[in-house]
Amino acid sequence: MKPFKLYENIFWAGALHPDLKVFDIIMKTKNGTTYNSYLILDDKVAVIDTVKGKFSQSYLEHISNLVDPKQIDYIIMQHNEPDHSGSLKTLLKEASNAQIVCSRSAVKYVKNIINQETSIKPVSNGDVLDLGKYKPEFYTAPYCHWPDTMMTYFPEIRLLFSSDLLASHFCDSRMVDQEIDREFWPDFREYFQHIMRPYKKNVRNVLAKIDQINVEAIAPSHGPVLRENVAKYIDAYREWSQVRPANSPPQAVIYFVTAHGNTEHMAGYIADGLKAKGIEVQVFDATELDVNDHLDRIENADAVLFGSPTMNNDAAKPVWDVMNSLVTLDVKGKIGASFGSYAWSGEAVKQLDERLRALKFNVPLEGIKAVLVPSEEEKQACLLFGDRIAEILLNVSS
Ligand code: FEO
Repeated sequence: MKPFKLYENIFWAGALHPDLKVFDIIMKTKNGTTYNSYLILDDKVAVIDTVKGKFSQSYLEHISNLVDPKQIDYIIMQHNEPDHSGSLKTLLKEASNAQIVCSRSAVKYVKNIINQETSIKPVSNGDVLDLGKYKPEFYTAPYCHWPDTMMTYFPEIRLLFSSDLLASHFCDSRMVDQEIDREFWPDFREYFQHIMRPYKKNVRNVLAKIDQINVEAIAPSHGPVLRENVAKYIDAYREWSQVRPANSPPQAVIYFVTAHGNTEHMAGYIADGLKAKGIEVQVFDATELDVNDHLDRIENADAVLFGSPTMNNDAAKPVWDVMNSLVTLDVKGKIGASFGSYAWSGEAVKQLDERLRALKFNVPLEGIKAVLVPSEEEKQACLLFGDRIAEILLNVSS
């Protein structure tokens, strides 16, 4: 798709990728995506972000149709994940007079991506770049979702280039929300859930910065440019990045699978141990759930417990499926624990504990096991297991 004028002297010059099925290995993109690059033809010429490497040649042609690349003064790299930096080296070959502008934490990424000497201008939060008519301001947005992320604000037209924030994996060649007659809200929400969710605290910090400026339009790095009711999108980020209200009682959630009811019984006993100490507990059979419906619940929980019998020397797949979904959540420091009934080998519990530690859970207790049907002694051990986790939660929250 050819570039088009977005504002006076500002052009969209990105790439469409309508048939992209999966982004970053884990996120399904049923409506494809776009890699948005912007060209500013002011007294100084600037490019904001490039596009994925497979589109380098057409991207360069599009830029060249608008300006001789040798006239480009600045390439503003807001974020250097390869979907935005993949064409940087190709552009630099032609834009031989350009200086790269990026956040201080981005310098090492730029160097490692282009692997050549180049002029780099690191900027800090609040720095201004004088292009002539436009004097964009930079606002750092660390870990939204990379350490290097920053945004670029054009106060003259109240336009915020928001990098990966407020973006959507959604491809429509009309590119501007006012022109698009297809619903992309689900894609906007899905994008937050997969990309920004693990960084809610950082998102809240960025929203505090956005609140200090007057934003009337948002030009993200993926998906439609937002011009209509931008507050709706900003407020959605505000809502989705909320933390649980203070002073709410500690919460635990238990996921189990069970072949013959024994691990389910263990889940019930452990839940009773937790409840006896005032912990709010929810218990779910992992074979009967869509994990996407549980992400908020897991994120709000102070403790997450997993139970599985040992089947073929392994924990059962539905429990692994829940665990595998946790990579998009901020679970660091939550209490994690495991349990399970077994008949002869019982490796599942140890494997679950190891995975919990790898996910950065705090695993204070070795997982608990029972042989086939939990005996009275094993039932009491489960109750005590729940009780000990409850004590840890109560000590943390006091
Ligand atoms: Fe769209 Fe984090 O790159």
